[in-house]
Amino acid sequence: MKKIGILGGTFSPVHNGHLYIAKEAYQQLGLDELWLMPVGIPPHKQQETAVTRYDRLAMCRLAIKELPFARVREDEIHSDGANYTYQTMEYLTKQYPEDSFYFILGEDSLRMFRSWMHPERIAAKATIVAAVRSMQHEYKMKQLKQLTEEYSAFYHSRFLLLDTGFKDISSTQIRRILEKAEHTNEEGEYLLQALPNEVLSYIKEHRLYQSSYMDGIYEAADDKKEITPGKRYKQLQKKLQKDLKPSRYQHTLGVAYTAASLAMRYGYPMEVAYVAGLLHDCAKYMTPQELIKYCKKHDLAITDSEYESPQLLHAKAGACKAQEDYGITDPEILHAILYHTTGCPGMNLLDKIIFTADYIEPNRCEAPRLTEIRRTAFTKLDQAVSMILFDTLQYLQETGKNMDETTQRTYEYYKKEVTL
Ligand SMILES: [Fe+2]
Ligand SMILES: [Fe+2]
Repeated sequence: MKKIGILGGTFSPVHNGHLYIAKEAYQQLGLDELWLMPVGIPPHKQQETAVTRYDRLAMCRLAIKELPFARVREDEIHSDGANYTYQTMEYLTKQYPEDSFYFILGEDSLRMFRSWMHPERIAAKATIVAAVRSMQHEYKMKQLKQLTEEYSAFYHSRFLLLDTGFKDISSTQIRRILEKAEHTNEEGEYLLQALPNEVLSYIKEHRLYQSSYMDGIYEAADDKKEITPGKRYKQLQKKLQKDLKPSRYQHTLGVAYTAASLAMRYGYPMEVAYVAGLLHDCAKYMTPQELIKYCKKHDLAITDSEYESPQLLHAKAGACKAQEDYGITDPEILHAILYHTTGCPGMNLLDKIIFTADYIEPNRCEAPRLTEIRRTAFTKLDQAVSMILFDTLQYLQETGKNMDETTQRTYEYYKKEVTL
């Protein structure tokens, strides 16, 4: 029986950060083998990279030359994104019934694990290992640890954290440098540090990542070079105003202001809360049919109750859209958007801020107890969350509307946390 680690990704290009994770996983988990598994690129992302799958495969093979325990697997790369992780894991465990698998993912993916297609089927077939940087804030580590414990109990499986130290290498940054015709010394140095020598030679020889088809992503990436928060807000607002109808846009601004105020009160970065507030409903303009289509296209799982009330999907679609169309990479913002309608047990501070701001922002006027909840939000946030959940469930029950199971579970969780 072998212990096999699986490290998936687009690997465009594979870099030393990936190899570092591979080595750490091999050592820390006592693996026998580590499989690098490049994925197929989903159709909606294809124009982002004119680098072929054969290039990505070739680079992976060059990269692992020095790692005798590593292999490159082609199980996923030849499909065009229709390969779900649960399918791959089920296939592999059938092929290798004697072996045990460790599926390695990043911490962003760990936070979004529930929204993967059939997370329970993945967790049933492998130990899930999240690679995290140990130099992170203590509270973040604590939060991740809590999340793994919660998942382990929920999925009856093992979720582990893998300490990968601090290696800040990003494929996006590598591609950005490679796209430029000329590099500064600093940029040249970054490439040498970030890429295995043979991979860098391959890229140069094949002139990869150098054409203007990359404009689309750089537009999003350039957004991140924010000069002032104000400028960044304006960019986001301009785009939102185009997409949303006027009343929804007003609501969005209300949520952003309220979220920023709550952030000030509870010592959370105000700018982050403001951006999360602005984007929380960024997919709200879509019709039910469009939401279903969007989620399917982006491989987002749709539950039965979401099929019944597709409007619920605007949170899931919104998190995806915030990432794709607005260039948001902060996992806390994406998580807060994902759970802004239903909440989830054990929400982090930003989740609670956005969830509450959505309910109490100044344009809201229909809900009962608004004055009381508004006041409570600024004194006892958990209690405000619990009150909102209680009132929401009550409303759904009275009007006979579809009750999402996550809202119910979240209420049970917060009910225990606070006594009303
Ligand atoms: Fe919403
Ligand atoms: Fe909203």
